[in-house]
Amino acid sequence: MKWVVGNWKMHTTAQEAKLLARRLREELYEPELPRRVRVIVCPPFTSLCSVQEALRGSWLQWGAQNCHEELEGAFTGEISVRMLTALGCSAVIVGHSERRRTAGESTERIARKLRRVVQAGLWAILCVGETLAQRRAHRVRAVLTHQLRSALQGLEPQQWESLLIAYEPVWAIGTGQAAEPEHIRQAHTLIAELLTQLGAPGHVPILYGGSVTAENAQQILQLPEVDGVLVGSASLDAWQFCTIVRVAALCTSPIPTC
Ligand code: PGA
Repeated sequence: MKWVVGNWKMHTTAQEAKLLARRLREELYEPELPRRVRVIVCPPFTSLCSVQEALRGSWLQWGAQNCHEELEGAFTGEISVRMLTALGCSAVIVGHSERRRTAGESTERIARKLRRVVQAGLWAILCVGETLAQRRAHRVRAVLTHQLRSALQGLEPQQWESLLIAYEPVWAIGTGQAAEPEHIRQAHTLIAELLTQLGAPGHVPILYGGSVTAENAQQILQLPEVDGVLVGSASLDAWQFCTIVRVAALCTSPIPTC
């Protein structure tokens, strides 16, 4: 089983989102696909309702790009996991580098959000990854260790089952420069090792994100260390996204070339 998650970021009005979601539903209506791949699209909060309307009853799932760490209260402008659950969300992206950077999200806050998401029984898609400067300074291991440890230390055994990791090197996001397969392989192996050290009771799916397109999806998804992809800009293009989903489905088959 491979995962394909679409991060629509701050794109699509409610109406545009509905059209895109409907198109995905139509194009991905193939009985084989749900047996091989899980698809989750994450539109902006304001489009969740229309995406729910468009996808309800299909095999495609939807989720959010962020949430608040409290369930309710005087937090102007925030959205809680309770509200997301009521909209049928099955996942929440936590700790995306754009939020760490532009919204100043601290590792402590990310840890609290993650707990809230897994307690609600939703998938928490925890994003981790190094910047270019950190990579050049050979700090990839140190950065990933810190990000994973701060977010996951002390997680209850059953909470691990609601966790997905997205390895997203910051230098690869939105740049058109996906990481090389060898780099991805090494990073995913390292993450798997760190998860075991942190007490993961079983396999935690590790997705790759950063300039994934219809063209490079196969070379990434065929890596055995890669359980799926987190797709940003290519997820706004129905043809590209559907192609990535089909490639993911092929890569779960035992055919040795893919
Ligand atoms: P990108 O974004 O595919 O546009 O690089 C990925 C992400 O930020 O999740």
